[in-house]
Amino acid sequence: MGLSITIASGKGGVGKTTLAANLGVALAEFDKDVTILDADIEMANLELHLGMEGMKTTLHDVLSGDASVKDAIYEGPCGIKVIPAGISLDGLRKADPERLENVLSDLLRTTEILILDAPAGLGRSVVTALASGQELLLVVNPEISSMSDALKTKIVAKKLGAHVLGVVLNRGGHDKTDLTIQEVEVILEAKVLAVIPEDPEIRRSSAFGQPVVLRSPDSPAAIAIKKLAADMIGEKYIPPKPSREPFMKRLVGGLFGKG
Ligand SMILES: Nc1ncnc2c1ncn2[C@@H]1O[C@H](COP(=O)(O)OP(=O)(O)OP(=O)(O)O)[C@@H](O)[C@H]1O
Ligand SMILES: [Mg+2]
Repeated sequence: MGLSITIASGKGGVGKTTLAANLGVALAEFDKDVTILDADIEMANLELHLGMEGMKTTLHDVLSGDASVKDAIYEGPCGIKVIPAGISLDGLRKADPERLENVLSDLLRTTEILILDAPAGLGRSVVTALASGQELLLVVNPEISSMSDALKTKIVAKKLGAHVLGVVLNRGGHDKTDLTIQEVEVILEAKVLAVIPEDPEIRRSSAFGQPVVLRSPDSPAAIAIKKLAADMIGEKYIPPKPSREPFMKRLVGGLFGKG
């Protein structure tokens, strides 16, 4: 039986999908067998973060009973398995969220780590994901509005029997009014496992449909996510060595007058 991690928040737009895509790839870089399922069946966009848009069979087809889950699994970057949610309104109309529970238990039998990218709020698919997910990773931004929604999600998760793995504080450190790690831990009564800084490389990478951990592996956000992945599986994160290339180029240029 695999490990199931639901990435949820309560508040929208805090960075759940960004984290799901990048954490999945970072775990795969440690040779883990990872499946990411887009549980945001109304506003799917995991596929955009991974550059995998336009897949024919999606979770919508599985939830409507028109396809088996195997048909909706695609290979993503670093060998991760990805199940897109689908974006067609017709597909959404036919999808029956009741079927999600069976899909999740099927997937857990065949994958080492299942990451569920939950939608904002506490709708049907979030509740199902939380009820079947063994672990909850709460994503918050360092602002008070993010806390109250996360707290609701945490309370519901606990009632549903999920274990709160911890909190990921995303987009931290760019404003004086930001809540501190200690404040977040006191409010949510949960440990902050990682702080991902505000980083323009995240936006750039998603514009190119590439996870930041692959496109800009040395960026502060990528390093924070890779460290989180390592901590989660008890591996040691080895930071990249600063490249000597620019120095060598300048040296050679200076010596031979090509600077
Ligand atoms: N650390 C960061 N630094 C800069 N931009 C970020 C960071 N994290 C996320 N973003 C940006 O914030 C936006 C929202 O991110 P994302 O889609 O991952 O949030 P979400 O919680 O999944 O949203 P939704 O609730 O709508 O599903 C995206 O444009 C993303 O590029
Ligand atoms: Mg999302």
